[in-house]
Amino acid sequence: MRTVEWNYATSQFQMIDQRLLPGEFKVAVFDDYQEVAQAITDMVVRGAPAIGAAAAFGLALAAQQSAAKDAANLRADLIAASDYLKEARPTAVNLAWALDRILGATADIQGGADDLREAVLAEAQKIADEDVEINKRMAAHGAALIDDGDTVIHHCNTGALATVDWGTALGVIRMAHEQGKNIHVLVDETRPRLQGARLTAWELTQYGVPFDIISDNAAGSFLSSDQVQKAFVGSDRTAANGDVANKIGTYMLALAAHDNDVPFYAVVPTSTIDLSLASGEMIPIEERDPAEVLDLTLLGRQVSPKGASARNPAFDITPNRLVTGIVTENGVVYPPYTDNLRKAVNVTTS
Ligand code: MRU
Repeated sequence: MRTVEWNYATSQFQMIDQRLLPGEFKVAVFDDYQEVAQAITDMVVRGAPAIGAAAAFGLALAAQQSAAKDAANLRADLIAASDYLKEARPTAVNLAWALDRILGATADIQGGADDLREAVLAEAQKIADEDVEINKRMAAHGAALIDDGDTVIHHCNTGALATVDWGTALGVIRMAHEQGKNIHVLVDETRPRLQGARLTAWELTQYGVPFDIISDNAAGSFLSSDQVQKAFVGSDRTAANGDVANKIGTYMLALAAHDNDVPFYAVVPTSTIDLSLASGEMIPIEERDPAEVLDLTLLGRQVSPKGASARNPAFDITPNRLVTGIVTENGVVYPPYTDNLRKAVNVTTS
């Protein structure tokens, strides 16, 4: 199944519960948009494009839940639900992007409340379907950057689970493997929630791509000893100047790659590029529960002394000077990013 999908037989929304993988494969089913928002906050679903699609289907649930009998009242309920869903996580711009796109696309719908309900679900489905198609286009552009015999380093999880299907940076790696290139992946474990060790490793096992999990703090050592040819990461929001917000630890990886002349690529659908923000400094960085750092809850035991405090920023900003290229569905974008990213985005919107 897809990571997130609408069940047309039951008119419910369902997604893979990523908190339980790889130990358990369970599908969580939703009737209530507020529960979808909570599931995004709790990371039942995570990864920027997957969050966007989940919010889109959440809005379709809100339309279904609303008792409004005419389109005007339903629209008011949808705007309130969209505002609510937008609060679920702050960094990934895909969340607001998907909700704004649905409200925009359905603004001029003629007819009654049920016509609007149908149009909201149709647009959410379109966002989901397009995500898969866009990821495959990015994968083709990105795979051309990978040579036979390369070892590639990867951070967090950017695969099918982080999207509706296929993935961004991990989709590039999967495509290179499917093209018959002999590649190896170093999988950053990605503290504190271990998206690399749990989710990326799970996906790569299924695709048959050879990999080794490394602790995040081993990346510099591998990069400085000629054991890595390229780095590929995703992004939760990329500013107009090419600064890349991505999972915490991406910046350190980019620094180490730069110091060792290893090309560093971000794989970013245009829905993740926020041209309204001039630079990465303006991107809101989510700070999550310190317990994620202190407790190693995934292992079921506390590792820090009782009463210890922690900070837990979930993302960091990699400045554009460390980014060799940005792979989009419209091709690979190189510096100067302020001009070239705008052109790549406008291919889609014009
Ligand atoms: O906190 P997460 O797991 O939602 O963070 C996900 C990432 O940082 C990914 O790299 C990012 O969403 C881009 S991948 C599609």
